[in-house]
Amino acid sequence: MELKVFDDVSAASEYAAGMIADIIKTKSDPILGLATGASPILTYKKLVDLYESGEISFNNVVTFNLDEYCGLAADDVNSYHYFMFDKLFDHVDIDINNVHIPDGDSDDPIAEAACYDALIDSFGGIDIQLLGIGVNGHIGFNEPSDSFIGATHIVELSQSTIDVNGKYFTDYVIPDRAITMGIDQIMKAKKIIMLAYGDSKADIIYKLFHADSVTPMIPATALIKHPDCTVICDKEAARKL
Ligand code: F6R
Repeated sequence: MELKVFDDVSAASEYAAGMIADIIKTKSDPILGLATGASPILTYKKLVDLYESGEISFNNVVTFNLDEYCGLAADDVNSYHYFMFDKLFDHVDIDINNVHIPDGDSDDPIAEAACYDALIDSFGGIDIQLLGIGVNGHIGFNEPSDSFIGATHIVELSQSTIDVNGKYFTDYVIPDRAITMGIDQIMKAKKIIMLAYGDSKADIIYKLFHADSVTPMIPATALIKHPDCTVICDKEAARKL
């Protein structure tokens, strides 16, 4: 893992957006793996800026999101579908047929999960995967556990994730299950960038860079074995290193 530390989230997000823009510019059929949450918001804003200034087009871009809450319809304001359109897709020239987000509201979530991996593979895999990291070390919604799950799957959210993400839910309680890309699909991405910002991420970033080995109790440690992974931090997240 390569570590890049920036003075602030703006500079870090500009760097991350630049890495994604490079893939969009150099590949004829770029496949992006995308994340939600607070960390990528400014990266998406910077990608929208690059689109508006004519530097990049999303015309041929195909996207696969990491995860979605179970039981939330696409138009629910708390869904990751809603987030992605609000922060990125509504502001660029992407063909919405090229946008893929797991359907958390599917009648058959198990079949939905299996189809999702097959679909990603049919596109030849992800060129660049954007990740955030949970304070408990989760990536996507691969929560700390005794073993890794490779495939896209349904997961019970940990209490830590429910506590951290639950604050965004005002009208009803956060779902306790989600559908998430598994560790194998994430690790198959040709390039990975992981964003970590703010003081609340300092402990997990310290643990990640001091882990002796890969452990499913800290799912992000899987990235240690990835040949092309860049961890992008602001000064606060990197302050214990
Ligand atoms: C979101 C996702 C999660 C977040 C993580 C960090 O699609 O997969 O793993 O990246 O929970 O969230 P923030 O960025 O809100 O700290």
